[in-house]
Amino acid sequence: MDTDLTRPSSVAGPDPIDTLPPTFRWGVATSSYQIEGAVASDGRTPSIWDTFCRVPGAVANGDNGDVACDHYHRMPQDVALIADLGLDTYRFSVAWPRVQPGGRWPAHVAGLAFYDRLVDELLGRDVEPWVTLYHWDLPQELEDAGGWPNRDTAYRFADYAELVFAALGDRVRTWTTLNEPWCSAMLGYAYGDHAPGRRNLGDGIAAAHHLLLGHGLATRRLREAASAPIELGLTLNLATADPATDSAADRDAARAADGLGNRLYLDPVLRGEYPQDVIADLAAEGVRIPVEDGDLDVIATPIDVLGVNFYFGQLHSGVDEQGRDRDDDGKPVRRVVRRDLPRTAMDWEIVPESFTDLLVRLHRDYPGTPMVITENGAAFDDEPDADGFVADDDRVGYLTEHLRAVARARAAGADVRGYFAWSLLDNFEWAYGYDKRFGIVRVDYDTQRRIPKRSALWYRDTVRRVRGRR
Ligand code: FCB
Repeated sequence: MDTDLTRPSSVAGPDPIDTLPPTFRWGVATSSYQIEGAVASDGRTPSIWDTFCRVPGAVANGDNGDVACDHYHRMPQDVALIADLGLDTYRFSVAWPRVQPGGRWPAHVAGLAFYDRLVDELLGRDVEPWVTLYHWDLPQELEDAGGWPNRDTAYRFADYAELVFAALGDRVRTWTTLNEPWCSAMLGYAYGDHAPGRRNLGDGIAAAHHLLLGHGLATRRLREAASAPIELGLTLNLATADPATDSAADRDAARAADGLGNRLYLDPVLRGEYPQDVIADLAAEGVRIPVEDGDLDVIATPIDVLGVNFYFGQLHSGVDEQGRDRDDDGKPVRRVVRRDLPRTAMDWEIVPESFTDLLVRLHRDYPGTPMVITENGAAFDDEPDADGFVADDDRVGYLTEHLRAVARARAAGADVRGYFAWSLLDNFEWAYGYDKRFGIVRVDYDTQRRIPKRSALWYRDTVRRVRGRR
């Protein structure tokens, strides 16, 4: 390519990205249901997503993960793509119903063999495996037994974590228990947008607590089982929540959004307590977090790394368009205010400055926990040329500005040690189906051909350049 994409002209002086240290970890992330396909192969049983995709209207175009990117059959080729981009780490998730069909003992040898091969393939190409144990594909049988609102699911998760660790722990150093428990709990059980599609706030909050409990239990099991040093943690999706104005009502709306979206997960894990203001907000809705004695100690089991997924930030207001701060039921108004900002194809506002703010705030409010950006990226309406190549300058711009935001947060003291682009491949974007493309590599779903986009080449060149200073 003749244009030097690694140095967009908008920054005066040295690019902040060049301040990232040689030890910085560079990777890409994916998740099992979004890419693997092969949903009925080698003994895999349905997950809640297989079921949810069959619900009319639940997923755009009636899409499902039956084939997805066919990664299950094309894994070596996909690993080669990662290696060719010069990345040092690959974050992938293990499909629970593939390695423990039905969600209960015993382990399933054929399912585990796939991840065993994947880990070996990665190591053979000098790419470090980073395993996420749960990226939303709960075995359907466990949902039938009550799902995450049922306390027992936390114990089932700890058993599952242990059996995956028994198979891969000799080669995998970094383990994330959960990906984005807010999404599993709230989108899945409170708002109904994700599997299993329940709409009940109490179920959502019970799910959140049991996910966190499962995280703590699994963390303890893995720590006990490990014979060599490992890095353990969980990944949270954190969005900045700023008040639209300085009014008391707007500030309270921002507090509430930050509480339910961010602190409800950060505080128990990193401080061993649930935030009092969130407990009070929930009580006003008639909802109690089902905490039992000792749970918070388990949840606060020390972690080594906090995974941060960042996509956008939002402005919040506590007054409606008529200026009222209570709705017809007398409840406080909670409203997201749209800004006149560029947006991605997900309609998410592009606010890289908020990313810096978030990381600096995490460093200030939860000191001492190293962070890795386990996901960051953007969907745009890609337009391939006749060869399938996508000149996705919008995605290059998004990634550039967000990497700069990370570098600025580091300069302000935030201990961020790595960055993973979401995602390696275009894939099944949950309720949006295949419409939204987040990949730095295009997938032609008719042929399953992979074509690196301009963003992939930019990422490769950026990593190479930053590392070149070693
Ligand atoms: C995150 C999910 C990931 C993907 C991106 C766009 O919330 O972890 O699977 O859907 O959003």
